[in-house]
Amino acid sequence: MGSSPEPVETSSFLSLTGALATSIKGHRIQPEHTKSLPTFYRNLEEALDTKRASDSFYATLPTGGPDHAGSVDFSSGDVMSMARNPEHRKEFLAELATHPEFALGTTSTRLMDGNYSYIEKAEADIAAFHGVEAGLIVHSGFEANVVIWTTIPKQGDVIVYDDSVHASTNDGIRQSMATDRVAFPHNDVDAFRGTLRDILATRPLVRQGKRSVLVAVESIYSMEGDICPLQELLDASQDVFQDHQGGIQFVVDEAHSGGWIGPGGRGLVCELGLEKEIAVVMHTFGKATGAAGAIILGSKSIRDTAINFGRPIMFSTAPTFPFVAAITSGCKVLSTKDHDRQRIQDMSRLFFELLTSHELWETAKSKGILRVPLADGWEDRVVNTHLLAIFTRPKSFWWMYYHLLSAGYRTFPASYPAVPPGQSRLRVIIHAHNTEEQVEGFVDAIYAWVQEMLDIEAGTATGTVTKAAKEVYDLMRREQVTGFGIV
Ligand SMILES: Cc1ncc(COP(=O)(O)O)c(C=O)c1O
Repeated sequence: MGSSPEPVETSSFLSLTGALATSIKGHRIQPEHTKSLPTFYRNLEEALDTKRASDSFYATLPTGGPDHAGSVDFSSGDVMSMARNPEHRKEFLAELATHPEFALGTTSTRLMDGNYSYIEKAEADIAAFHGVEAGLIVHSGFEANVVIWTTIPKQGDVIVYDDSVHASTNDGIRQSMATDRVAFPHNDVDAFRGTLRDILATRPLVRQGKRSVLVAVESIYSMEGDICPLQELLDASQDVFQDHQGGIQFVVDEAHSGGWIGPGGRGLVCELGLEKEIAVVMHTFGKATGAAGAIILGSKSIRDTAINFGRPIMFSTAPTFPFVAAITSGCKVLSTKDHDRQRIQDMSRLFFELLTSHELWETAKSKGILRVPLADGWEDRVVNTHLLAIFTRPKSFWWMYYHLLSAGYRTFPASYPAVPPGQSRLRVIIHAHNTEEQVEGFVDAIYAWVQEMLDIEAGTATGTVTKAAKEVYDLMRREQVTGFGIV
């Protein structure tokens, strides 16, 4: 019998039974015996080992998300605190009660026996709420983007997209019939204008009005937290395409603005009064609405196109009644929550105020220990979103994450492939359920870490790594894994 491993002292949030330990264990490169597995499984494990070796192995975490005992949520997508909202639950149960004969399953696609009047009414109501002609509910935002980009652009059309669009838009574009695709630098209106001029000059079919340009943007970018300059992009497109009316159309993904921005949470397009200008708007229900699924909004032609050419619509069982009932009840409750929308803005402003007025802010910035792009000009911004990204030096990225986790603050450590290689960051989400004390505590915890980093650099600290990082590294040694910032 081997000797039992020495106990490791950890803070409660870095425990051996917690989510972090599960991740760490998942990163253990497979032992020698996997070499004798049948070829099929050996190949799977070899592919997984390349993820393990690059700190990017994912495991589902039973203790992750809201069950992460006692930690403060600056991570989940439950922006408007709707996922566990008792009002939402009550409305959902009322929807079920008023339709006591509802079917649990749809058993077929929308185009066969799977369609039903309740889903059509929900689509019509949501479309009316957003001031558009038609809507099509699908199982997820990912599916919606794949359907949009594989059905709407036709051969010869040109797709222009912000280089920070979500993976689902990238996947949809990659599968699109329109093989002419041009990315423009994130939120850069001048570059966008230049791209359009170039397209008009070099694509005769577009110039002749025989083919269209389709633009992919998001209202709020999930890994940056900044807002799309939609009006400016639209103005630029109208400038360049003034003699080619209708030759350029926008598709706006409102995954992070739906339910949160604008009166009633209608999203950015409605907030700017652009309902009639934007061809396709996509809202998801898995974040602010506290349900799941998505809706593709636009004209009847758009809906018909999605139904007639969208393979996930044609070949997949329709969304069920309880699924749509959760969307209906979520939308109903969410539309009454202007107070919470304002609160999130206030919390976001409080965060920036505390962050930028701290005595260590300038030092931390100048030494590259902290970089928060949205902290620039936060006072003058009309809307500060609920999303923001915190960068540090690449080598210290995991240390910052461990430190905050150890102090009880949950953030999302976004690394490749969620963001481009070398651009890891902590993605922070401020929710309606976050209190002022939590925001203050969070900023205090960030600066406690900055101070530790400064002490280490000055040689006045006891060790050469931060305390939380040391705890994690002890855990890793015990689990015999490397990675996660161990260089
Ligand atoms: C911008 C954006 N679009 C689409 C999606 C996919 O939505 P869903 O989670 O409903 O599949 C996400 C999910 O995070 C997103 O951030």
